[in-house]
Amino acid sequence: MTKIVSHRGANTRAPENTFAAADLALEQGADYIELDVRESADGVLYVIHDETLDRTTNGTGPVGHMLSSEIDMLDAGEWFHEKFKGAVVPRLDAYLEHLRHRAGVYIELKHCDPAKVVALVRDLGMVRDTFYFSFSEEMRFQLQQIAPEFRKMMTLNIAKSPSLVGAVHHASIIEITPEQMRRPAIVEASRMAGLEIMVYYGGDDMDVHREIAAAGVDYVNLDRPDLFAAARRAL
Ligand code: G3P
Ligand code: CA
Repeated sequence: MTKIVSHRGANTRAPENTFAAADLALEQGADYIELDVRESADGVLYVIHDETLDRTTNGTGPVGHMLSSEIDMLDAGEWFHEKFKGAVVPRLDAYLEHLRHRAGVYIELKHCDPAKVVALVRDLGMVRDTFYFSFSEEMRFQLQQIAPEFRKMMTLNIAKSPSLVGAVHHASIIEITPEQMRRPAIVEASRMAGLEIMVYYGGDDMDVHREIAAAGVDYVNLDRPDLFAAARRAL
C-alpha cells in the first residue's frame, strides 16, 4: 500500500511545519511527515521552510541571523489563521520526539549542519524511520560522508536517470512527478535499479489522487493527505 508523506504536514489546513500541521496530517491518515530544517545563528535546528521568518512567522529576517531565544518567542500560526495563534517554530529535536513511534519522517536539509541532524536522529533511535533529501549538493555530499547508512531520496529531475540515483547519489528512493509516473519506461527503470518510488503531487485533483493510488508506488508526497487517504481506502 502506498505510504502517504504529508508535505510540511497538512499544510493546506494548518500552518506548515508546525505541531498542529503534523498532528492533523496523522489524523488524516499520513504515514510520514515531511519537514524542512534550518539552523539559528547560535546553532539550534528548527523546522521551517523559508530562508527568512517573514512569511510563516511574526518575525522578520533570515532564520540564520536570529538567536534561538528570539525564534522561540515567535508565533508561527497566526499568519495562517487566528485559531492557530500561539503555535511555535518547532525545534527539530522536539518535533522528532513528538513524531517518534507515531510516524516516519522525511527530513529535507535546507540550510544546517548535517552532522547535527544525524546525531539527533541516531540519539532518538529514528534511523530506520527517516529518509533524507537536500537540493544542496554540498549537504547531500556531507550527509553521505557522515551517514552512509541513512536512507536517502533523490529526484529524477536532478538525477536525470533512475540508474544514477543509487550509483551517483547514494539514494534508495526516487521522486518523480505524476507525468513521469505515466511513462512506463521510467517506472520500470526505477524498479530495475532497485529503487522505491515516491510521486510528488501538490494538487487536489481527486482523479490524480486515485490514479497515483492505483499505480501502487511506494510513497506519495503531497499536500492533501485526506484526499489520498480516501483514494487509498477506495481501492
Ligand atoms: O520532495 C521535494 C519536497 O520536499 C520539496 O519541498 O521544500 O520545495 O516545498 P519544498
Ligand atoms: Ca521540503
